[in-house]
Amino acid sequence: MPLAHFDGALAVVTGAGSGLGRATALALAERGAEVIAADIDGDTARRTIVLAKAIGARGSAHQVDVSDRAAMEEFAARVRADHRVPDIVVNNAGIAVAGPFLDTGVDDWERILGVNLWGVIHGSRLFGRQMVDRVHALPNKPEPPNFGGHIVNIASAAGYTPSRALPAYCTTKAAVVMLSECLRAEFASSRIGVTAVCPGFSGTSIVRNATLVGLTEAAERRLRERGDRALRLRHYPPERVAERIVHAIIKNRPLVPVNTESHLLHALSRVSPASLRLLAKVPLPR
Ligand SMILES: NC(=O)c1ccc[n+]([C@@H]2O[C@H](COP(=O)([O-])OP(=O)(O)OC[C@H]3O[C@@H](n4cnc5c(N)ncnc54)[C@H](O)[C@@H]3O)[C@@H](O)[C@H]2O)c1
Repeated sequence: MPLAHFDGALAVVTGAGSGLGRATALALAERGAEVIAADIDGDTARRTIVLAKAIGARGSAHQVDVSDRAAMEEFAARVRADHRVPDIVVNNAGIAVAGPFLDTGVDDWERILGVNLWGVIHGSRLFGRQMVDRVHALPNKPEPPNFGGHIVNIASAAGYTPSRALPAYCTTKAAVVMLSECLRAEFASSRIGVTAVCPGFSGTSIVRNATLVGLTEAAERRLRERGDRALRLRHYPPERVAERIVHAIIKNRPLVPVNTESHLLHALSRVSPASLRLLAKVPLPR
């Protein structure tokens, strides 16, 4: 399968109804992949497929909650039965919870761990198993090293940047970075590539959809508006992140910080963790 061109590749993208997921699905479609767009919001996933078909690609939409084990098992089995083993899986679906640790309730933790971590675990386990079995059924295993498929897990710069404003989000994203590194080591012998992508700020709906804890209603509204505006003013559209994701698959990269702030934070996490500890003390603005 010529991963460098994606011609004829089958790609599964979760959270494909919006933001980075939709842009990634379309970037892969543009390069010849057939795209399976999965989202908890079936209407937005279907819209992504309408856009993919408008550029001549093939694809289908699925409504699925990535945090739901049974739903993900059924989804993976349907992909296998109705199509085949996917060549590319982008575990992208994610949500944000912002606010102090002591104001973050158990329900908030369960929800964010469910989507941001369990969603990635389910996607990697179920499709990873299919990819490994497919490779081991082949008589010989040609190059390139990710011939057997590629799994992209969308983490975040938050995965290496502690923050008292985002304890739950940072925790899930650090776990996704580590899970991806472990998977990469395990799957290398099956010629399956694994990448953790760590974007900085990009203009999507993530802040609009975020749960903000420990704030009055007025402060929450103010912060949501401010955060949303800041993301838009950053002028880093999801399409640019999607290009980096495509490049990461072609080059089989392990860890990909995306945009200036993410590169800078990644460098600081290695050369000066103390500076990040200082930065971590900045609270949510009110
Ligand atoms: N936008 C950024 O600045 C930024 C930065 C770093 C990382 N990320 C990560 O990028 C990923 C995509 O986020 P985005 O910015 O495009 O946000 P978004 O809110 O625009 O899109 C998220 C998509 O995921 C879907 N989704 C949410 N819960 C789901 C579930 N349980 N099952 C299936 N689908 C679900 C939503 O319906 C939505 O379509 C997330 O993992 C996020 O943490 C975003």
